[in-house]
Amino acid sequence: MSAPILSVEGIETFYGPIQAIRGVSLEVAAGQIVTVLGANGAGKTTVLRTVSGVLKPERGRVRFAGHDITGFSPDKVMRAGICHVPEGREIFPLLTVRENLMMGAFTRHDPEIARDLAKCHEYFPVLAERADQRAGLLSGGQQQMLAISRALMGRPKLLLLDEPSLGLAPLLVSQIFGIIRRINREQGVAILLVEQNAHIALETADHGYILEVGRIVLHDSCARLLETQDIQEFYLGHKTEGARGGHRWRRKKLWR
Ligand SMILES: Nc1ncnc2c1ncn2[C@@H]1O[C@H](COP(=O)(O)OP(=O)(O)OP(=O)(O)O)[C@@H](O)[C@H]1O
Ligand SMILES: [Mg+2]
Repeated sequence: MSAPILSVEGIETFYGPIQAIRGVSLEVAAGQIVTVLGANGAGKTTVLRTVSGVLKPERGRVRFAGHDITGFSPDKVMRAGICHVPEGREIFPLLTVRENLMMGAFTRHDPEIARDLAKCHEYFPVLAERADQRAGLLSGGQQQMLAISRALMGRPKLLLLDEPSLGLAPLLVSQIFGIIRRINREQGVAILLVEQNAHIALETADHGYILEVGRIVLHDSCARLLETQDIQEFYLGHKTEGARGGHRWRRKKLWR
């Protein structure tokens, strides 16, 4: 892997007395898509919130593009080049679609904002069709498209995506992930993608980390993870035959 653009080193993050992240390290190379997979409550959202400055880690460092950004405020992290598409999208429901997109560009004063808006409309034409409509009237899938586009309006070098597949029909999930791949390919934006949908995440990303109860228990190329038996059983739902011919569906995971 080329030199990482993002390097998370041993972060530990708490909510009051509750330790959600217990020493997580991971890397994202420039232009790469990296996924973090894990069950409910594993700490996926907390990792992204720690990178984007919403939460401050008790221990560990976050380095981005050669700078230590640990403890930076969210707007400073954004100015450094990291845009976060949060869990649940968090669009502004009473603002129009266009106004939501312009909010994503609030740190910018360059002349290319209009070009980037046109690019978002090319990726997701419905956002042009509904430009003057209140964003709260969009469907869940359209709100996800808006949330991704709003982040792109910040011209990120690294995009943080928190469960873009959540609550969406399979056809829409594959459409949105098709665009996520295009954004990565065409704009060279690195992506840190957090997902519970292991199928689509492993098909999309280059490298994957498995997070369990606040710790990384395994990481590898997605091609190899797709062939790993425990991943197939516990994250992809493939059943395998046990020694006596019965299913070993709830077999204890090997990596503990
Ligand atoms: N605001 C909070 N206050 C206290 N504990 C929290 C808070 N947010 C999350 N936690 C706890 O931190 C741990 C990690 O939560 P987190 O939201 O990062 O998990 P997740 O992997 O994103 O889960 P999900 O797939 O459900 O979104 C969980 O045990 C959760 O209960
Ligand atoms: Mg989450």
